Amino acid sequence: MKRVTAFVGSARKKYTYDAVRQFLDDLKALGDVECEIVTLSDYRIETCRGCQVCFEKGEEFCPLKDDRDVLFEKVMVSDGVVLASPNYSFQVSAIMKIFLDRFGFAFHRPRYFGKTFTSIVAQGIYGGSKLVRYLDFVGNGLGFNAVKGTCVTALNPMTEREAQKRDRALAMQSRRFYERLVESDYPAPTLLKLMAFRMGRTSIRLELDDSSRDYRHYKDKGWFESDYFYPVCLGPLKKLAGGLFDSIQTRRTRKRKS
Ligand SMILES: Cc1cc2nc3c(=O)[nH]c(=O)nc-3n(C[C@H](O)[C@H](O)[C@H](O)COP(=O)(O)O)c2cc1C
Repeated sequence: MKRVTAFVGSARKKYTYDAVRQFLDDLKALGDVECEIVTLSDYRIETCRGCQVCFEKGEEFCPLKDDRDVLFEKVMVSDGVVLASPNYSFQVSAIMKIFLDRFGFAFHRPRYFGKTFTSIVAQGIYGGSKLVRYLDFVGNGLGFNAVKGTCVTALNPMTEREAQKRDRALAMQSRRFYERLVESDYPAPTLLKLMAFRMGRTSIRLELDDSSRDYRHYKDKGWFESDYFYPVCLGPLKKLAGGLFDSIQTRRTRKRKS
């Protein structure tokens, strides 16, 4: 049994919610999947104050006392996660962004490896595809295996043609997602992901020390010595590229500090 949680950033149960519902129904038809829809506006999520205590000391020292940990726990116990948002002013909704900002530390210390991710955006007319790319980027940055999301277009009322197009897109997305979900794999990183890891960890190694939570996390996980966040077999080209990324960032950091 796989567990999937969808976080919805719309306060009303309309197009974003309906698309999520449809996606999850399609998913359940494919196999043994248990689903939950979490409407973010039903939870207390405060706006990040930018103190950066989570970066430096640790997320458990965040001064905000709200439902963050209830939501984090839902992510942690899920095999798959969906982030769904309406397009508001060419961006994700404010509540979705406030939610994402609370994961700031997890971009420094990614953790959702082996879990599957996807996104759904509902828009009236234009701008939603960029938000799908943004949310998928966020999913990758947090460590998930991101499956390309879907943008659903609907002006009120939704036409029959729009509904059919939506249903086709969501059915395809649920198949892609399901395949990843059942694999639960730890794939070899793309060159971009490898670069982000190698350059990020080199900066952390050279710029920070034991007083920093990021530094201690990388040290404890053995990430200063590993090829990637988790054990992978890098081919010769990626091995070479990894070494190159390490040395480029070493030079850049030394230059910045001199
Ligand atoms: C404040 C606000 C801003 C919006 N901005 C855009 C926009 O920039 N582009 C767009 O295509 N639709 C925009 N819309 C339309 C919504 O994306 C669209 O109605 C969507 O279906 C809303 O999702 P929901 O039905 O789940 O509430 C906006 C709607 C609102 C309320």
